[in-house]
Amino acid sequence: MKSLMEREKDTFFQVYKRLPIEVDRAEGCRVYAKDGSVYLDFLAGIAVNALGHSHPAIVDAVCEQAKKYMHISNYFYQEPQIKLAEKLKEMSGMDRVFFSNSGTEATEGAIKLARRYGSQCDKIDIIAFSGGFHGRTYGALSVMDKPQYKDKMGPYLSNTKVIEYNNVDELRATINDKTAAVILEFIQGEGGITTATQAFIDEMSKLREQFGFLIIADEIQAGSGRSGKFAAYQHFGVRPDVVTLAKGMGGGMPLGAILATEALAGIWDKGMHGTTYGGNAVACAAGFAVLNELENGVLANTNEVGQYLKSKLDETMARFPGKVAEVRGRGLMLGLLLTFDAAELVAEMLKHKVISNAASGKVLRIVPPLTITKADADEFISVLHKCLEVI
Ligand SMILES: Cc1ncc(COP(=O)(O)O)c(C=O)c1O
Repeated sequence: MKSLMEREKDTFFQVYKRLPIEVDRAEGCRVYAKDGSVYLDFLAGIAVNALGHSHPAIVDAVCEQAKKYMHISNYFYQEPQIKLAEKLKEMSGMDRVFFSNSGTEATEGAIKLARRYGSQCDKIDIIAFSGGFHGRTYGALSVMDKPQYKDKMGPYLSNTKVIEYNNVDELRATINDKTAAVILEFIQGEGGITTATQAFIDEMSKLREQFGFLIIADEIQAGSGRSGKFAAYQHFGVRPDVVTLAKGMGGGMPLGAILATEALAGIWDKGMHGTTYGGNAVACAAGFAVLNELENGVLANTNEVGQYLKSKLDETMARFPGKVAEVRGRGLMLGLLLTFDAAELVAEMLKHKVISNAASGKVLRIVPPLTITKADADEFISVLHKCLEVI
C-alpha cells in the first residue's frame, strides 16, 4: 500500500510544499499524525483555525446547521447569513456585507467594487504595496509584485501599480485624482509580518480626503481577531471604505467577506456581483461561532498570550543576537526576522514536532490558534531556543 505522500506525488499538480506529515486528526493546537506523532501547531491552517482545530462551538454550530440545511442558494433569506452579517457590522464598524468563499474572491469583489466606484467619478487606478499578498486570481495578482506567483501567466489588469509599502513620499507622489482605490494589509502576513507605520496610514487618510479614493483593507490574514482587535485597521484610528475578510472568520470552513461603508451600498445593481456558494449556511454558522467566541474571551486571550509570547520572543532576540534581528507583529500574528533562511528553522522545529512557517524568506511566521495558553507558548519557545542553538 502506497503512503499518502506517494499517492499525492502521483496524482496532484506539484504546487504545494507540503510538510512530511500524514494527518490523522487535529484538536486545539495539536495535530495527530497517522504514525502516532503529535505536533504543536503554530501555523493553524495558515492563520485560519482561530479557535484551534475542531473547537466544540464550531463543531456544534456546523452539525446543527447541517441537519437543517447546508446549501440553498442566495435566492433565499437565511438566518445564519443574516446573523453573521449583523455581527460583522458590529465588530468591524462597517455597514454592508457580501459573502464569498475565499480570500482571493473577496479581493476580486473589492477590485470590481473599486472599479465600479471609479467609473462614476472618472477614476481608474488601483494602487497596492510591495510585500502585499491578496490572493491567486487575476485581479489579486494584478495588485501584487510577486514574480514567483505571476511569471508567464499574464497579461494582468491594467491601471494597477505596486509602490513601496510605508514610503510616504512615494505614496504622495503616486496618488492623484485618477486613483480609484488603494489596497493594503495593515499588517502584512506573507510579506513577513510587516506593520504599516502610523505616519503612512495618516498620510493615506489625508490623501483620501483630498482625492476621494477608496481605502481597501485586506484583513484576510490580520483580521478576525488575530492582531488582538477584530481588525488590524482598528489599531490605526482609520475607517476603511472596503474591508476583505476570510481565513480566521470561518474558523476552518471556507468563508470570505467584503464589507463596505453605507456610501457604497448602492454601488452594485442586482446581479452585478454574486456567487453560488458564498454565504453558505454551514460556513456562516461556523463564522458566527468564531465571532461569538472572540467576544467571549478569545480576543482577551489573544492579547494576553500574544503579549506574553512577544516578551519571550524579545528575550529570544537578546539571547541569540546573531540569529534574530527583529521581533514583529501584534496579538498572535508575530514574526521573527532571522539573519538566515527561516525555512531552515522551520525544518529544525519540525524535528521537535513543532509546526511553524517561513514568510518572505527570513521571517519565522508565528500564527497559532488564538486559543493557545501560556504553557503552549512556553513549549514553542523552548523548542525555538533548542533549534536556534544548533543552527
Ligand atoms: C492577506 C491575504 N489576502 C488574501 C489571501 C488569499 O486568501 P485565499 O487563499 O483564501 O484565497 C491571503 C492568503 O494567504 C492573505 O494572507
